[in-house]
Amino acid sequence: MKTKLMLAAGLAALVLAPMVGAEPSYEEVQMIIHRDFKAKGQAKMDRLDQDVVQQVCTRAHDKPPADVAKAIEADQLAAIPVPSGSLMGDWKKGAKTAWSGKGMQWNEDPKKGAGGGCYNCHEISAQRTSFGTIGPSLKAFGKKRGHGADAQRYVYTKIYNAKAYNLCSNMPRFGTTGTLTEQQIKDLVAYLLDPNSPNNK
Ligand code: HEC
Repeated sequence: MKTKLMLAAGLAALVLAPMVGAEPSYEEVQMIIHRDFKAKGQAKMDRLDQDVVQQVCTRAHDKPPADVAKAIEADQLAAIPVPSGSLMGDWKKGAKTAWSGKGMQWNEDPKKGAGGGCYNCHEISAQRTSFGTIGPSLKAFGKKRGHGADAQRYVYTKIYNAKAYNLCSNMPRFGTTGTLTEQQIKDLVAYLLDPNSPNNK
């Protein structure tokens, strides 16, 4: 028994040894990911390419200098094309988008559009009981933040590009990446803020 335990410990040490050494560089990690990822269907190799904004975070382990982060956030915010007029779409459609994780997988048709998969990270609506918790709860968001022009603008731009407020946010940039359309984002604004939305009941 003792020998078996020693052997197991020895093996574990051997397997783990290369990992304890110097941390691989950004370039080494990219090389490994590119080596191991296999393009299939609509999931092409470009899925692995980080834009410069993401690179700033990855290279700095999500802790870039505060003044650098602030400057890039302001830049990102200014670059968001915010439609004029009301940003409040149709909450019924927004609910569908929030609770759909479809559209981006290799075997799906990109022409059919994508969902937002918001439920993977957020609690939204008291009626739904299964959700992830990486992001804060958005339940009754409109009750807490109101549904006026400022609240609409904040939610629209946050969904469009979460990095405009928090450079190293884990939240996908749904507008910047073209994952969701302008109308889909407006519908999500309504799902979160509209007093008639089940999210605010
Ligand atoms: C991979 C996880 C993830 C997904 C998917 C995700 N979010 Fe987020 N979201 C976060 C995290 C983490 C935060 C908090 C940190 C931050 O502000 O960036 C956040 C913050 C927010 C906020 C700001 C909350 C506040 O209190 O100001 C809103 C609004 C929001 N998300 C909406 C959405 C919507 C709508 C979707 C779907 C289209 C979505 N999120 C999808 C992770 C996610």
